[in-house]
Amino acid sequence: MKNIDKLSLQNAFRLFESKDIDSIEVGTFEGLRQIHHYLFNGLNEFAGKIRTQNISKGGFRFATALYLKDILAKIEQMPENTFDEIIAKYVEMNIAHPFQEGNGRSMRIWLDLILKSRLKKVVDWQKVDKNLYLQAMERSPINDLELRTLLVANLTSDVYSREILFKGIEQSYYYEGYQKDQDEE
Ligand SMILES: Nc1ncnc2c1ncn2[C@@H]1O[C@H](COP(=O)(O)OP(=O)(O)O)[C@@H](O)[C@H]1O
Ligand SMILES: [Mg+2]
Repeated sequence: MKNIDKLSLQNAFRLFESKDIDSIEVGTFEGLRQIHHYLFNGLNEFAGKIRTQNISKGGFRFATALYLKDILAKIEQMPENTFDEIIAKYVEMNIAHPFQEGNGRSMRIWLDLILKSRLKKVVDWQKVDKNLYLQAMERSPINDLELRTLLVANLTSDVYSREILFKGIEQSYYYEGYQKDQDEE
C-alpha cells in the first residue's frame, strides 16, 4: 500500500476511534462531504470538494458535473425509513458520485451511519465478497435487487463491535484495490 493510502486508512480508523463519527450529519450530502474531507484532507486536492469534471467507470457515466448540486439536493430529500429506502438513497448517491475520487470508501461509511441511526444495524463488510459487491454496484443503477439481497444478508446488530468496524474499513479499502502489504501487521 502506498503511504498516502495508508494515511487515508488511518484517517478512517481515527474517524471512529476519536468518536468524531458521532458529530457527522446523517443522510445529507454535507455529512458525506465531512466524511470525505476527514479521509482525504491533506492527501489529495479533492478532499471534501464536489467534482467539476464528468467521470465514468466500466462504461457507466456518473451524474453530469454541471447538475451535481441540484441532484445532491434532491437525493438528500429521499426518505430513509426502511432498508429498501436507505439502499435506494445509497444507489442514487453512487450515481451522483460527487467526488473525483474516494466515493466508494466515503459512501460506505455514510451508508453505515444511516443504517445505524435508522435501523440500529450496520453492514458486516468483511462478509461481503468483493466481486459480488462490485457487480451489484455496477448493476444497481438499473436494478438494486442484487445489492439489497447481498447487503441484507450481511447486516449486524453488533454496531459497536471494534472488530466488525475495523475489519469493515479494511475491507472497504480492499474493494478499491488498497490492501496492506504482507509485511505490514
Ligand atoms: N460501473 C459502475 N457503475 C456504478 N457504480 C460503480 C461502477 N464501478 C464502480 N462503482 C462504484 O464506485 C465505487 C468506486 O468509486 P471511487 O470514487 O473510485 O471510490 P474510491 O476512490 O474509494 O475507490 C465502487 O466502490 C462502486 O461502489
Ligand atoms: Mg477509486
